[in-house]
Amino acid sequence: MSASISTAGTGKRVAVYPGSFDPVTCGHLDIIRRAAKQFDHLIVAVLNNTSKKPLFSVDERKQLLAEVTQDLPNVSIDSFRDLLVNFIRAKEAHVIVRGIRSVTDFEYELQMASTNHQLDEDIETIFMMTNPKYSYLSSSIVKEIAMFHGNVQDLVPPEVQQALIAKYKPE
Ligand code: PNS
Repeated sequence: MSASISTAGTGKRVAVYPGSFDPVTCGHLDIIRRAAKQFDHLIVAVLNNTSKKPLFSVDERKQLLAEVTQDLPNVSIDSFRDLLVNFIRAKEAHVIVRGIRSVTDFEYELQMASTNHQLDEDIETIFMMTNPKYSYLSSSIVKEIAMFHGNVQDLVPPEVQQALIAKYKPE
């Protein structure tokens, strides 16, 4: 079977946007909105990585993603805990969406895309350039600012801002 963006069963074009989303930023949301226009169904998939110590639990990250995408009817939120290609096959999707902010992202993304291609050549990775407005933005930067009670208003959706304030509330 050749690489295709249609699912075998339904003919719907299903894509998966995977990531840590700890937490979702305006940069992620911009990619979600743009990718949702390109596919019939976009699954935003949170990696449940037991070896990392995230700020937000998987359920909290999924909840925040659900809140900030509630106006996008063809977007759903899910999580996975093993190989991404297994999750993609289980969902009958064929496309991985990833955002690229700068050349520094490129090497890592190329390695991931090549690995996923090696694991399943029917799965295609599609890259979208991050909106230049958010090219410097990452979840780590956002957490660092929030930890020191800086203003993250322009960097994350309001729901996430509130969640960060609650996490870093002084005792
Ligand atoms: O937001 P992130 O942390 O850059 O996302 C990385 C992610 C979750 C896409 C990547 O780590 C991943 O797909 N992990 C699942 C394990 C896997 O499939 N590894 C092989 C491909 S590198």
